[in-house]
Amino acid sequence: MSFTDWEALATQYSRINDARRDTVFVEIARWLGERKPGALLDYGGGDGSFVCGLTQVPIPEIVVFDPTPTMVALAQEKCAHLAHVSVVGSVELIAPRHFDVATFNAVWMSLRSDTECVETLSLIHGFLRPGGTVVASVTHPCFRAQRFSTYRTDFDNARYFEDGSQFLVEMSDGLESVVLIDTHWSLGAMVRQLRKSGFQIEELREIRDRVIDGWVAPASPWLVLYARAQ
Ligand SMILES: C[S@@+](CC[C@H](N)C(=O)[O-])C[C@H]1O[C@@H](n2cnc3c(N)ncnc32)[C@H](O)[C@@H]1O
Repeated sequence: MSFTDWEALATQYSRINDARRDTVFVEIARWLGERKPGALLDYGGGDGSFVCGLTQVPIPEIVVFDPTPTMVALAQEKCAHLAHVSVVGSVELIAPRHFDVATFNAVWMSLRSDTECVETLSLIHGFLRPGGTVVASVTHPCFRAQRFSTYRTDFDNARYFEDGSQFLVEMSDGLESVVLIDTHWSLGAMVRQLRKSGFQIEELREIRDRVIDGWVAPASPWLVLYARAQ
């Protein structure tokens, strides 16, 4: 299996009306509203959907970083009316030790090796002020075999302990769909990678799926990890 070509899929991905907008993003916005950060870095922020949805949370400075040029262009367009948001495509343009919070939404599963995970989390650590928090949302590694409202995978739970194994994800909102290749990181692997990168977990929140016609999946599609930079 090869890896997801984000440049090729960026536009298609950004068209999906992902259930996270009503679930995970609401949970993180609630937490940000309580924490009131002065500066937020959205690392791997994609098309800027997350930060554009933070209308009720007054954050004076937001930087969105994404390495995929089409994602950067989409985010620049989407955030053009927001004077406090800047969008960059290079880590060189991110101020070190500056941010109170870094969000890391749906990026961990794009990282291909244990080394890349630790390097990426360590980079994020370097952009945070001492004591800053990374908020990482990931598809819950324990429930990949379950079908959810806007995604399903071909993951077999027998591979749970095979960290770094790849699986297919089909995202669909009923109108648009896209197929991605993601990488599996178990709960234990994510905890180890956070610790190696200088973080200590403060809280885990397991998010329920969007209810469809009264039915809710008997599992959690998304997990949000809150970890403090040591
Ligand atoms: C599933 S999308 C999520 C985008 C956005 N955070 C969201 O929640 O909609 C994954 C994003 O991770 C970005 N990405 C892939 N590898 C990355 C890396 N090593 N560092 C930062 N971002 C990365 C991709 O360009 C893509 O925009």
